[in-house]
This record gives sequence, C-alpha cells and structure tokens, in this order.
Amino acid sequence: MTTRDAIAVLGLGRMGGALARRLAAQGWDVVGWTRSGRAPGAVTVTGKAQDAVARAGVVLLALFDGPACREVLDDTRDSLRPDTIVVNTSTIGPAEAAGLAGQFGPSYVHAPVLGSVSAVAAGTLRILAAGDQDVLARVRPVLEALGTVRDAEDAATTAALKLIANNGLAGAVLALRDALRQADALGLPRDRTLDVLELGGLGGLVARKRPFLVGGTSAAPAEFTIGALAKDMALLAAASDSPLRSATGVLDGPVDPQADIAAAATVPAVGDAVLAPLRAYLRGHATGDPAHFRAAFLPSAHVEGVRDGEFVSWSLDEYCARFPGRPAPDEPYRSRRIDAIDIHGTVATATMTLAHGADTFTDVFLLVHGEDGWRIANKAYHRHA
Ligand SMILES: NC(=O)c1ccc[n+]([C@@H]2O[C@H](COP(=O)([O-])OP(=O)(O)OC[C@H]3O[C@@H](n4cnc5c(N)ncnc54)[C@H](OP(=O)(O)O)[C@@H]3O)[C@@H](O)[C@H]2O)c1
Repeated sequence: MTTRDAIAVLGLGRMGGALARRLAAQGWDVVGWTRSGRAPGAVTVTGKAQDAVARAGVVLLALFDGPACREVLDDTRDSLRPDTIVVNTSTIGPAEAAGLAGQFGPSYVHAPVLGSVSAVAAGTLRILAAGDQDVLARVRPVLEALGTVRDAEDAATTAALKLIANNGLAGAVLALRDALRQADALGLPRDRTLDVLELGGLGGLVARKRPFLVGGTSAAPAEFTIGALAKDMALLAAASDSPLRSATGVLDGPVDPQADIAAAATVPAVGDAVLAPLRAYLRGHATGDPAHFRAAFLPSAHVEGVRDGEFVSWSLDEYCARFPGRPAPDEPYRSRRIDAIDIHGTVATATMTLAHGADTFTDVFLLVHGEDGWRIANKAYHRHA
C-alpha cells in the first residue's frame, strides 16, 4: 500500500460515509461506492463497486451485516487486484468473519471498530485488527488515520470480542431505560434526572446522548441505529447459544429501527392494561379478598409450585379458598413488588417477589390478552426458605 494507491470504501452509510470523508481529509485518494448511489460529500464515488475496487490497493468495507459483506465481495471479487487488501470494519458474526477470512486468505483483515461517527471524524476510533502480520503492517497507516489499532486474534475471535463490546453498550442503554422509567413513575423531571445520571456510571452515555433523551423531537441525526445494535445482539445470542436479554430488549416497544440507540432508552414503560391483573393479584394478597384473584386470573388458571417437597397444582377455586377475606395479621410488615414484565404481542410473562414474614416467594406469571383484556393464565411459584 502506498499513498498513490486508492482506498475504495464500499458502503457509504453512517460509518462508511464518515470513514471515506476522514481518509480523504487525511490526504488519501478515496473512491467510494454504495448500493443506493448516495454520495457522502467531498469523496469521489462510482456507480459500480467493481470500478472502485479495480483502482484500489485497499478495499474498506463498512456494510450493514454479514450477508451484505458476502454479497458485495462476491460481486467485486473478480475486479480485485492480486495485491489488494480487503479490510472489513463491519460488525458481523464470528462464523461470518471466519468464512470471509477463509475465502480471502491473507488478503483479508477483519477490523471491527469501537466508536461511532464522531470518533471517525476525530480519528479516535479503536480498531481491533486481525490478519496476517505483513498485511497488517501494510494497512496500518490507513487504520492509524482513523484511530488506534489493537492487534487482535483471528477473525472469528475478533468478531466475537466486538459483539461483546456492543453487549456492554446494549446493557447500558437498557439500564438507562430502566432508570428513566423509574424516574417517570416517581414523577421526577427529565432534565433533573439526566443531570444526576450524568454524575454516575451511565454518565458518559447520558452526556453523549442527551439531545435524544430530553424528550420531544431530536434534531440530531442517528449515529448508531437501534436496528444495527439489535442485529449485533441477535448475532451474539446466536453465536453463544446462550440467552441474551438485550437480543430482544433493544427492539422492545414502539421503536424505529432507524432511530439512534438512545431512542431505545426513552421507550415508555408498559401500559397500565397489562399491569391491571398483576395489581389485582397484589390487592388480593393485601386484603385477603379472593374477589381480586378472580379479577386477576382466567377461570381456567392453575397455581403450581412445590410445597414441603410435594408438587401442588391448585385450580383457581382451590386457590381462592385459601384466603379468608381479611388481611393477614402481619400484613403491615409484608411487601410485594413487580420485578419484570415482558410482552410478546398477546402474551406476556411477569415475575414478582413477595416478602411474607419468614417466607419470600418468587411468583412467575403467564398472561394472555383475550376478549376481556389482560388476565393471568397461570402462575408458578417458588417459596424461598
Ligand atoms: N454507526 C455506528 O456508530 C457504528 C459503530 C461501529 C460499528 N458499526 C458497524 O458498521 C457497519 C455500518 O454501520 P452504519 O451505522 O454505517 O450502518 P448504515 O448507516 O445502515 O449503513 C449500512 C451500509 O450498508 C449498505 N448495505 C446494507 N445492506 C446491503 C446489501 N445487501 N448490499 C450492499 N450494501 C448494503 C448500505 O447501503 P445503502 O444505504 O447505500 O443502500 C449502507 O452503505 C455495521 O456493521 C455496524 O454494525 C456502526
């Protein structure tokens, strides 16, 4: 790679557009291509990916996902010069990255990046680069124009590490969503809440994303979309074969996949409708009046758990018969809370903790939205000693 060689940037979306502009501003000869034909400004673009690739010593990919990378590389492979290096900055799955590394051999560098559009513009990306040492040495000047390079393991490991890094971001977004929902439930003003959150563990995220979090229409364009983060979390859950709450969590509720990830933190709490049967259930315990349980549960519901080592399954009538119509004597000292609720269209799951004297119960509910609105279809519980 010499400074006379062009860099072809394939994919001129948020990141690709910023990468192309940054490299051009740093004096590199950049030629860009993107599927939609859009031009990011101050960068020469071609209508055909093959034309961009044919001129390039380095082909930089900034495409949405693995299938897009494979498609674009399949289309351009025959136009690559023998000494051209493909540097893939896209966030893709470990198996997808390994597949491309296997296909292109030493000419492939897998280089996912940490940092967003503003980090590209400032040249402060953190780049995990996996590839042949000699090849890495050749592309290092290009990567160092974009940020700090960390030599990484093989393509699959590097792709996996990038997904783990994004899992941290997804977790922070969901933690921020929880904080904002709780603050809203307490009637705290949003500005004041954000001021205080900026002082804590989520401070960096809150400071960076504040324009998106203050409510109302945000003037700022999305830097990293909810759809891209959801794609990454789905890739991680599929690669690890282990449950991952954020794989569905970031897309939970009425969100626009093209919105900035910060918008996922502002999705309002679940509506009162799905909470109604759970609140009726809480009233049943607080008052001892079974009428509240009959309002909470479907008539066909069962309550199941293990008592003194024995599995028990009560019908709703059997369950209601256990309540005398008045509060437990120690009711003032009992407490209950709804811990979680996940809605999937017309069904939902919920978890509750009940501290009843010496016993703490975890109640797990299955809810269904039928003709009469939300009702508890079944409950299973565990009694902690
Ligand atoms: N944005 C960030 O902050 C950030 C940070 C780190 C890593 N990343 C990763 O970087 C990559 C690019 O992200 P981005 O934010 O720039 O996404 P983006 O704005 O949605 O851009 C995606 C690009 O991929 C192209 N594309 C999508 N599907 C394609 C297909 N089937 N064939 C050909 N081209 C296709 C799009 O082309 P057209 O739009 O022209 O059709 C566009 O150029 C993603 O893997 C993302 O996860 C993003």
